[in-house]
Amino acid sequence: MTRGTTNPNRLRRMDRWIAAVHGAELRRVADPVAVDLGYGAAPWTAVELLHRLRAAAPRTRVVGVEIEPVRVAAAQPYAREGLVFRHGGFEVPVQGRPALIRAANVLRQYEEREVAAVWERLRARLAPADPGAGFRGGLLVEGTCDEIGRRHVWVALGPEGPRTVTFATRLGSLDRPSDLAERLPKALIHRNVPGEPVHTFLRDFDRAWAAAAPYASYGSRQRWIRAVRRLTADWPVTDGPARWRQGEVTVTWGALAPRD
Ligand SMILES: C[S@@+](CC[C@H](N)C(=O)[O-])C[C@H]1O[C@@H](n2cnc3c(N)ncnc32)[C@H](O)[C@@H]1O
Repeated sequence: MTRGTTNPNRLRRMDRWIAAVHGAELRRVADPVAVDLGYGAAPWTAVELLHRLRAAAPRTRVVGVEIEPVRVAAAQPYAREGLVFRHGGFEVPVQGRPALIRAANVLRQYEEREVAAVWERLRARLAPADPGAGFRGGLLVEGTCDEIGRRHVWVALGPEGPRTVTFATRLGSLDRPSDLAERLPKALIHRNVPGEPVHTFLRDFDRAWAAAAPYASYGSRQRWIRAVRRLTADWPVTDGPARWRQGEVTVTWGALAPRD
């Protein structure tokens, strides 16, 4: 049994990103179910996910899933309309196919070689795409952050495979973008070595950050925006200034995927 470390508001950056990029699609689903897989020793992140997703898609229901039965029992007082807690794991014990599975700070406890099979298993549980309804399919968001959620990196996957990698940070706490390397998800954290794309990306990001130093006098937000804009010359950044302002940047998975 692991410690189940969690904290109130720890996953706010991930929640807000999900609401921003996936909220419109959640609204198009008749009965959108979102799973908070491995919510931990206390169910705060599941409660917060419910509130943040409902602001974007009011019909959303959240199911908190935990592999430790004692944590499922401890969460029951927090159950409410739209929020239930179930015992289970990567089989995802919910009826039907969820529109979202969020697994934060769960795969860090597993081996790198296990990640691909877990991703595949979870992707197979996602709601399929429905192009006619403008729905690209359910989203799996899997990543890692520090204990108070200042540094966060996650991978987003659809039923078809991995889509993007997002880096999100509280800008005031950042010396350089490669500070985020310690929070890379399991699929990438052991790949931050010369010759691997994620290492090259973080090196280029640090250089862009250094080149943007004159903008620091306007604040770290302006510096981050300038650095990311410079990155777009060489890297397939998928988002724009509205997200960069939040201390985020999203890149296609294919550009950062491990070499083998
Ligand atoms: C470090 S806590 C993370 C809690 C919360 N998601 C967060 O980020 O603050 C990881 C939790 O994942 C749970 N866990 C590990 N493997 C799991 C699995 N296969 N299915 C469901 N939960 C799992 C552990 O019991 C633990 O409570």
